[in-house]
Amino acid sequence: MTVRRARWVIGNWKMNGSLAANATLLAGLVTAPRADAARLAVCVPYPYLAQAQAALAQSAVAWGAQDLSAAASGAYTGQVSATMLTEFGASLVLVGHSERRQYNGETSALVAAKAAVALAAGLTPVICVGETLAERDAGRAQVVVAEQLAACADVLRDGGARVVVAYEPVWAIGTGRTASPSEAQAMHAAIRAEIARLGGAAAATSLLYGGSVKASNAAELFAQPDIDGGLIGGASLVAAEFLAIAAAA
Ligand code: 13P
Repeated sequence: MTVRRARWVIGNWKMNGSLAANATLLAGLVTAPRADAARLAVCVPYPYLAQAQAALAQSAVAWGAQDLSAAASGAYTGQVSATMLTEFGASLVLVGHSERRQYNGETSALVAAKAAVALAAGLTPVICVGETLAERDAGRAQVVVAEQLAACADVLRDGGARVVVAYEPVWAIGTGRTASPSEAQAMHAAIRAEIARLGGAAAATSLLYGGSVKASNAAELFAQPDIDGGLIGGASLVAAEFLAIAAAA
């Protein structure tokens, strides 16, 4: 029996945007046809959640955040809780993006705790995994990704098909150097096998590729059997480009 997995195209704006630029971008996104086969979403900086909510509420585009706190509330200066995100209508949240692992010292254990909190709040956690260039060159790519996934074993088991995993090789992020469709497919197949080994809903879990996805290379990547869509950085900041990527999914 073939399992139909949700296809997603998610924009990660990272620390980009302004009220004026977002207004133009969001106005472009609401033209996305509702019949699109892929679920469209944008993950915006916290100050713009209200703007995304106002602009996208009547649209087919979902919105979310790029991180959340592992704590529920209290004395955690600078952090944002899952409940705050849901109050703004967010339906998904990235966890463990490589930029947070790298610049904010997030460990796989913290990433797992954040994913669990997101799940409990009814958010879709998009768990980001991926190896550095040094790790790939050392032949350790699959080991590194398997370790990142293993830390999230409970979440993968408990969340089943509600969890989304994004494979983002660090060397392909913002570099213009995309993993080849066969490299990406090989890792996605390995990720799916690892999720099965950990007791997750492997066949039903959406696995997204991220790293220099553009309208010009999206179709080839998304045609791979284990790639169920994309997590898009730079190209998500231009509505026409992002919608062209969505159309490829
Ligand atoms: P780019 O698409 O800019 O390479 O970024 C990928 C990414 O990190 C998305 O989360």
